[in-house]
Amino acid sequence: MNMRTFMALLMVLLLCHLCRAQINSSDNDSSDETDLADTQRPSIEGSEDDLVLQTDIWVELLALRDLVVEQSVELRYLKDRVTVLDSLVEDLQKENTVMEARMTAAEILVEELQMKNDAQARDLAIAQQNISSIQETLTVCELHVEEVEKQQEAQARELAAAHLELSAIRETLTVNELRVEMLEKQREVVKVAFSASLLASGEGNIEYGSEFATLIFRNVFTNTGNHYNPNTGYFTAPVRGVYYFRFTGHMAYSEKYMRMRLVKNSNAMVFIGDCKTPSTDPEDNASNGVVLQLEVGDVVSVQLSDSVWDDQYHRTTFSGFLLFPS
Ligand SMILES: *[C@@H]1O[C@H](CO)[C@@H](O)[C@H](O)[C@H]1NC(C)=O
Ligand SMILES: *[C@@H]1O[C@H](CO)[C@@H](O)[C@H](O)[C@H]1NC(C)=O
Ligand SMILES: *[C@@H]1O[C@H](CO)[C@@H](O)[C@H](O)[C@H]1NC(C)=O
Ligand SMILES: *[C@@H]1O[C@H](CO)[C@@H](O)[C@H](O)[C@H]1NC(C)=O
Repeated sequence: MNMRTFMALLMVLLLCHLCRAQINSSDNDSSDETDLADTQRPSIEGSEDDLVLQTDIWVELLALRDLVVEQSVELRYLKDRVTVLDSLVEDLQKENTVMEARMTAAEILVEELQMKNDAQARDLAIAQQNISSIQETLTVCELHVEEVEKQQEAQARELAAAHLELSAIRETLTVNELRVEMLEKQREVVKVAFSASLLASGEGNIEYGSEFATLIFRNVFTNTGNHYNPNTGYFTAPVRGVYYFRFTGHMAYSEKYMRMRLVKNSNAMVFIGDCKTPSTDPEDNASNGVVLQLEVGDVVSVQLSDSVWDDQYHRTTFSGFLLFPS
C-alpha cells in the first residue's frame, strides 16, 4: 500500500518535471512574442533536445523504478525485521515486566530478610549478653561447687575418721558387753545358796533301816539358783568352786539311834550320830559342816540310817552355799 503511494508520488513528480519543461519552453514562447519566428525554428532544435531529455528521464525513471523496487524489497525486509523486532521487543517488555515483578518481590524479600536479619542480630546480641551473664553465673557456680566439693572432702575425711572412731568404740563396746555378760553370768552363777528342813508339814520320826539312804529335805527356805532339788534331796554344783555345807539332826523319844552323813557323789565326807533318847533324855541335837571343792555336776546329799525327828520348829536341816568359784 505504502509502496503504491510511493510509486504514485514518484509518477506525479515525473509529470511535474515534464510540465515544467513545457512551461519553460512556453514561457520563452510567451515571453517574447516578437521572436516568434525565431523561436519556432529553434523549437525544432528544442524538440531534439527534448527527445534526448525524455530518453534521459526514462532512463532515470527506470533507474528510479529499479531503485524503488530495490528499496521496496529492502523495505519489506526491514518491515519484517521490524515486525520481528517488535515482537522481540514485546517479548522483552513482557519478560521485563516479569523480571520487574520478580525483582520487586526479591526486593521485598530482601527487605524482609534484612529486617529478620536485624532482629536476629538483636537477638544474637541479647543472647550473647545472656551467654556472658550465664558464663559469669557459671563461673560463680563452679567456684561454689569447688568450695562445696572441698567442704565435702573435708566432711568425708571427718566422716571416715568418725567411722574409724565409731568402729573402735563399737569394738570396745562389744568387748565390754561380752565382759558384762560374762560378769553377769558369773554373778548369777556365783549366787548359789540353799537351806531346807526335813518335813514340809507335821511332826514325827523319819525311820530308815540300818543302811544309809538319802534324806529328802522337803521344806525349802532358800534355793537361789535352784541347784537343790527338794524331790530328790540332791544338790548339784553348777560351777567349779569351793562350797560350804552343814546339816543338823534332832532326836526325840526314839528307841533307835540316829546316824547321819554328808555324801559327795558316792563318798561319805562327814558324820553325826546320837544314842537312844529315853524319857530321861528325850531330846538331842547333832550337827556337822564341811567346806568342799566341787567340780561342775558334783552332787552332795545327806544320808540317814535308823531315825531322825522333825516338826514345826524345823529342828532337822540341810544348808549349803558357794564360797567362791575356783
Ligand atoms: C527551465 O528553466 C529553468 C530556468 O528558468 C532551468 O533551470 C531549467 O533547466 C529549464 N528546464 C528545461 C527543461 O530546460
Ligand atoms: C528563452 O529563449 C531565449 C532566446 O530566445 C534564451 O536566451 C533564454 O535563455 C530562454 N529562456 C529560457 C528560460 O530558456
Ligand atoms: C535473655 O535472658 C532473658 C532472661 O534473663 C530471657 O527472658 C530472654 O529470652 C533471653 N534472650 C535470649 C535471646 O536468649
Ligand atoms: C536340842 O535342841 C532342842 C531345840 O531344838 C532343845 O530343846 C534341846 O534342849 C536340845 N538338847 C540338848 C541335849 O541340848
